[in-house]
Parts: sequence; C-alpha cells; structure tokens
Amino acid sequence: PMKQRLLVVANRLPVSAVRRGEDSWYLEVSAGGLVSALLGVKDVDARWIGWAGVNVPDEVGQRALTKALAEKRCIPVFLDEEIAHQYYNGYCNNILWPLFHYLGLPQEDRLATTRSFQSQFDAYKRANKMFADVVNMHYQEGDVVWCHDYHLMFLPKCLKEYNSKMKVGWFLHTPFPSSEIHRTLPSRSELLRSVLAADIVGFHTYDYARHFVSACTRILGLEGTPEGVEDQGMLTRVAAFPIGIDSDRFKRALELPAVKEHINELTHRFAGRKVMLGVDRLDMIKGIPQKILAFEKFLEENPSWRDKVVLLQIAVPTRTDVPEYQKLTSQVHEIVGRINGRFGTLTAVPIHHLDRSLDFHALCALYAVTDVALVTSLRDGMNLVSYEFVACQGSKKGVLILSEFAGAAQSLGAGALLVNPWNITEVAASIGYALNMSPDEREKRHRHNYAHVTTHTAQDWAETFVSELNDTVVEAQLRT
Ligand code: UDP
Ligand code: G6P
Repeated sequence: PMKQRLLVVANRLPVSAVRRGEDSWYLEVSAGGLVSALLGVKDVDARWIGWAGVNVPDEVGQRALTKALAEKRCIPVFLDEEIAHQYYNGYCNNILWPLFHYLGLPQEDRLATTRSFQSQFDAYKRANKMFADVVNMHYQEGDVVWCHDYHLMFLPKCLKEYNSKMKVGWFLHTPFPSSEIHRTLPSRSELLRSVLAADIVGFHTYDYARHFVSACTRILGLEGTPEGVEDQGMLTRVAAFPIGIDSDRFKRALELPAVKEHINELTHRFAGRKVMLGVDRLDMIKGIPQKILAFEKFLEENPSWRDKVVLLQIAVPTRTDVPEYQKLTSQVHEIVGRINGRFGTLTAVPIHHLDRSLDFHALCALYAVTDVALVTSLRDGMNLVSYEFVACQGSKKGVLILSEFAGAAQSLGAGALLVNPWNITEVAASIGYALNMSPDEREKRHRHNYAHVTTHTAQDWAETFVSELNDTVVEAQLRT
C-alpha cells in the first residue's frame, strides 16, 4: 500500500530564504523548537507548506524560490509585506504570543494595540486564508493535513470549508493559557471555533489541553467530555501529545571527529572553571534577564566561585522587527555589561553573551562540555533545549536547572532542579547546589532524564498524533 502523504503546515518553514540575486536564493536552517522537532521526524512522506520568512514581491523571485524550496520538499506561501507585518509581527508576536505565555502587553503599548487590534486580526485571517489556498492546491485525497501553532488557528476552519472530508489536525507548540486569560482576547470565540473545526487538537501537556477545553465550555458554552469538546453531536478530539527530540542525532554528532575536537578545544579553553550554559531565542518568555540577575546574586554571595565559573549565554536573535524584542536586547546587553564590569578581571569575564545562532555541531559540543544548564523560562510550551542538553550529557552527567513553568518540567522534573525563575534568591541557591552536587546525585538525576529523553522521541510524537488523527476520523464516520 502507498504511504499516506502528510502535509505539514506551519508559518515557519524548516529553511528560511536569503536573497542572493534576482533569481538566486540561499536557504538556511530556521531556528526554534517547532522546526527542530519536525526535522526529527523521519520515515514519512511529508511535504512542508509555509512562509519562507522574506517578502518576495516579484514573479521572477517567486518562481526561483519555489524551485529552490521544492528540492527540500517545501512549498512557499507568499505573503505581501503589509499583511506579513500585521499578521506576523502584529497579531502573532505582539498579541497572541505574549498572551499565551501569561505576559501582558507592555503598559505603553496597551492602547495602541487595542486600537489596531481589528486590522491585525483581519490580516491574520487573510494570511490564514492564503495558507489554506496553497494547502488546497496541493491536497490529494487521503492526505493528512497537520497544522501547527498559534499562527494558524484560523486554518482548520478554512480547510474544512474547502473540503469537509480533509483530515485536519492542529497542534499548539506554546502553552494554552487559563480560560481567564484567553477571555480577554477580543477574538476569543472566533479563534476557538476555527480551531474546533479540526478533527483533533493537540497540546504538549495535559494542563494546556484542559485549559483549552475550559475555554470552550466557559466562553462558547459547549460541552467538554473526556474525549474532547462536543458541539451538537460533533466531537473535536482534544488531547496531550508531549513532543520529544531525535536524541540519536545528538548522540551520533558527539561521535564525529570534528565535534570531538571542538569539545577538546572548549574543555581546554575553560579549564579550571565550571561551565554554565543558557541557549535561548532572545525572547521575553525565556527569562534571560532573570537568569543573569540570579547568576549575579550567586557571584555576589559566593566570592570564592567568582574565578571558577563562567556562564555562556547563546541568545539567538528572533522577531527583530517587533519593538518588545528590540527593547529586550538592549536590556540584556546592559545587565551583562554591568555584571562583567563588576566581576570581570583583566583576563576573564563571568558572562559570555553571544547574540547569534550556532550551527548544530557547535551546539552539540557546547551541550557536552556544560556542567550546569540553566533554563529559566517564565513560560514555555515544552522547551527542547533542556532535552537536547540531557541527550548530550551521556558522559558528563551535568545538572539541569529548569523552570517549573516550562512544559518540560512535567517530564524532566524528577532529574532536574526545578525553580521559580521569578525568585532569584531560589535560582542563585540552586546554582550553588548544582555546582557542589555530589557525583552520585548527579548520576542519579541524569539517569532519570536520559531515560526519558531517549525513549520519548519526536518520531513517536508525530506517529502518535497522526495515528490518533486517522482513528478519530474513522470513529466520526462510524458515528454518522
Ligand atoms: N537552536 C537553533 N539555533 C541555535 C541555537 C538553538 O536552532 O543557534 C535550536 C535548539 O537546538 C532548539 C530550538 O532552537 O531545538 C529551541 O527550541 P525550544 O523548544 O527550546 O524553544 P523555542 O525557540 O521553540 O521557543
Ligand atoms: C516558537 C514557536 C514556533 C516558531 C519559533 C521561532 O518555537 O512555537 O512556531 O517557529 O518559536 O520563532 P519564529 O517567529 O522565528 O518562527
């Protein structure tokens, strides 16, 4: 039998395009957990549909880019600049993203955003419609269509309007907030109803799924059942599908001569000092200022550690056209500068802060030489960095300090030191505890997490979701 085709629809394609000439394009791997997880899914006949991250107004450019992307099994959705701005920078990243992570709008933006809300929501719907058009053009009977993330909440409804037989799933990679938060969105009902048009709706944790169901019962007055949400006899299945990583890919990378050499270099470079590591997109949900302030407090209280520990913070630039992200960048730079000025010496500084991305092999080497990883998200759907760190620690067995507000706290809680990132006294104490932890305790904690990360893979995640989607559709047909 022919393998079922999978159409993966996400705003962000696994590669982002950079223009090199009138009809020449360079494709670079995109950053972020969604792309990483989906790249870890193998053995499926998948095609990607999404935005290449650039504005391509001319037909020559569009044709050349479509061709270049086809080699990567990617199909572009072209959004004109104004729509992309209002949809991506505006509605997605200035409204939905902070709201879903329980971060309100900044005070000075509140009124402006309230005024531009409707036009941004209109652009969001129009953009989702353009994704639907491209999906519809490439859809073949029997395909499974898997929509991803908060950018595309309107898509399931558009797709079902085109073809009610299409098998449609939707998965959210962020938290879904308490219904009390979702209630404040002017478009609260319309968004819920469009998502409910999908056959199945998935979240990283049981809590997010429960929040979604309560939003549907309280705001829409629908009925919640153990299976999902029911509307006049029609069921939308709602469930938790915790994501994972392709841990073998990391383990294999650590065996490569080039990576081993890099590990040696780093070990040599930081000899005599413990290495602490943070890897985050430079996003306010990651709690980077909080993390750095906790590290400062630790140095303040532990003078003997000042020349024996270093914090490497990789801050990958992201969404740089959104003013909030620009403000965060300067805020972080200011704090890092102040602390390095305060505790640095002529030959060493306590914090190495990098505003850039790393290639996969450099990242693996860093994970492998780290003694303590610091993940201090104020909220995070899952957080794959914590998984990747664990996967690379087979020999070192370092400590993971992990925010209790990351989805990963539910799966790695047994091995990690869980912290409230807002409480820098607690985080500073955990840093001390981690640096002084006995090898026995480290080994025990590591074993827990390693077992989880290596057995709950991205592949399992995708297979489970797609097979549940197929089952749900069959069951719905049996009911009617
Ligand atoms: N990552 C990346 N480039 C880098 C550093 C990290 O692409 O320079 C990857 C990292 O390996 C991880 C992802 O970005 O897979 C971040 O995922 P996570 O779930 O931790 O957070 P998100 O960025 O999705 O909020
Ligand atoms: C998070 C979101 C993804 C997004 C990624 C990177 O992981 O859940 O949907 O792709 O961040 O953000 P960006 O805006 O660059 O796509």
